[in-house]
Amino acid sequence: MLLLLHVLMLSLLSGGSARVVQDFEKECGQFFANGKSPTRFPNPQYRQICQTLNNVVYYATFYDTHNKIPVYSAYKFEGLKDCKRQKKWYIEPQLDDNNASPNMQFEKDVKKQGRGDHQALKRDYMKSDHDKGHLEPVFQANSQGCANATFTLTNAAPQNPSFNRGQWRKLEEEMARNLSDQCLPKNYSVYIVTGVVPGTKNINNRVTVPSHFWTAYCCLDNNNKCQVSGRFIGKNKNNAPENKSEVDLKKELETHYNVASFELFDYSTEPPAKKRKLNK
Ligand SMILES: *[C@@H]1O[C@H](CO)[C@@H](O)[C@H](O)[C@H]1NC(C)=O
Ligand SMILES: *[C@@H]1O[C@H](CO)[C@@H](O)[C@H](O)[C@H]1NC(C)=O
Ligand SMILES: *[C@@H]1O[C@H](CO)[C@@H](O)[C@H](O)[C@H]1NC(C)=O
Ligand SMILES: *[C@@H]1O[C@H](CO)[C@@H](O)[C@H](O)[C@H]1NC(C)=O
Repeated sequence: MLLLLHVLMLSLLSGGSARVVQDFEKECGQFFANGKSPTRFPNPQYRQICQTLNNVVYYATFYDTHNKIPVYSAYKFEGLKDCKRQKKWYIEPQLDDNNASPNMQFEKDVKKQGRGDHQALKRDYMKSDHDKGHLEPVFQANSQGCANATFTLTNAAPQNPSFNRGQWRKLEEEMARNLSDQCLPKNYSVYIVTGVVPGTKNINNRVTVPSHFWTAYCCLDNNNKCQVSGRFIGKNKNNAPENKSEVDLKKELETHYNVASFELFDYSTEPPAKKRKLNK
């Protein structure tokens, strides 16, 4: 009963417009295949963000306030849109102050007190010789508004510049082209999750440098079955990311995150014939 009250109070406190939310499956589940998010870790250092810019929600991010990098961003791909890159980066006001704006904002527009206590800021990257590596990339954004909304530091992690501009970028582009060819013409809904694994180094004594970047997609047909899927993971240096089977990426991420189970999508909905082929 007490627990129930507690949960009730928390959900009341989190309010309707808050963008750091208690349950992003409930608040912005449209970015997850079949409404089901990848695994969420229970520790309080993790926060769930419905990424909002000018009151429009564009994607979802599971954020690690301790390492000050995301675990993953989840989004839908709707085709190559040729969006422009904006130069400035936003931050998430509600990570440092529950009562702050539900919209991502430029740092200068966010109250100074407490700012950056639970997230990375521009200055963390300044002399770091690392790029602000997008999780959801501009190249896969489905509108200019969405492309703008990818420029938030909660959707970025320190990335080796030659990796970011080389092999990782190549993968992002190839993936977008493949999905445009293989899934969109069939009217499949394309769901992508892109994440990082925290490593042992940091920048500015504040922000953890990932050891790995990974990405996975699942194209759902009209019966919500995963018809086409793929997964890649690469070390945070400029080697080609590896194509992984469902089982292998799952195992690798379980080891990296030190958890018993890490689920990306409900692949069980995948047709058996396809599944056998993919696991070969
Ligand atoms: C995206 O950002 C650019 C520059 O920051 C701005 O001029 C443009 O209006 C924005 N577009 C949308 C759709 O928000
Ligand atoms: C794209 O498709 C080609 C041909 O099927 C395949 O060899 C390649 O690995 C795919 N790449 C990605 C990133 O999906
Ligand atoms: C495409 O899929 C959407 C749902 O994702 C559905 O509403 C629409 O009717 C479909 N269009 C066609 C041409 O099948
Ligand atoms: C990954 O490798 C498997 C097995 O070689 C292959 O069937 C599949 O098409 C590859 N996937 C992508 C996206 O390249």
